[in-house]
Amino acid sequence: MRNKFIAGNWKMYRDVEESTQLAEAIKNILKDVGPSEVEVAVCPPFTSLCAVNSVIKGSNIKLGAQNIYPKQEGAFTGEISPLMLRSCGCAYVIIGHSERRQYFGETNESVNEKVKAAIEYGINPIMCVGETLEEREKGVTNDVVKAHVEGGLKGIPKEKLQHVTIAYEPVWAIGTGKTATPEQAQDVHAFIRKLLGALYDDAAAQIVRIQYGGSVKPDNAKELLNKPDIDGALVGGASLKADSFEAIVRFNK
Ligand code: 13P
Repeated sequence: MRNKFIAGNWKMYRDVEESTQLAEAIKNILKDVGPSEVEVAVCPPFTSLCAVNSVIKGSNIKLGAQNIYPKQEGAFTGEISPLMLRSCGCAYVIIGHSERRQYFGETNESVNEKVKAAIEYGINPIMCVGETLEEREKGVTNDVVKAHVEGGLKGIPKEKLQHVTIAYEPVWAIGTGKTATPEQAQDVHAFIRKLLGALYDDAAAQIVRIQYGGSVKPDNAKELLNKPDIDGALVGGASLKADSFEAIVRFNK
């Protein structure tokens, strides 16, 4: 069965020194938590990846980046390649976060290229999908999520699907303090799993972990994470403090 997977998206917060301290604190506070129980990852800004890697190397905490450029190398000023992420110790990369779709013009096509590149170079993508408030109110949540999932996974063969995590992040719940209810989130997660079953098959769909993201906090994590199709959380604000991140990782305590 799927183990839970909790990842912290630090977004554009924490310089190198602050990142090092936060990573130390998270490593120490979670040293008894193994991946068979809950898998844990932190995703600092690019500038802190190597420093955080030095801190968490050999521990149960995995490292993730927040973006990737889908080419091995080349004249792409300002971009970071899959090999560079690997050389910093990244096991994961967040792809297609709504902030990147909103502010940096990412589309289902660019997300798809990045997901393919990440898999090709041995980095596990965390592919973000989710509707805006306007889309939810118009009743097109499932259509939007379907387009994100189908578009992002285009051309990914069944045997590679196990490397993919999908993060359902309703845009209206990100950084707003408004969480989707556990039932609202479960409905969309079940819809995504059914869609994966149709695109691939049921066995493949059962392996994929689907995280929920959007104002996950210590006091709502338990209810969300006990839903059958919610396999983890992608945590923003509450991942920037070791104690609140710990409380989410230990949601069942
Ligand atoms: P918050 O937990 O701050 O709402 O952010 C969620 C998010 O965007 C994680 O990727």
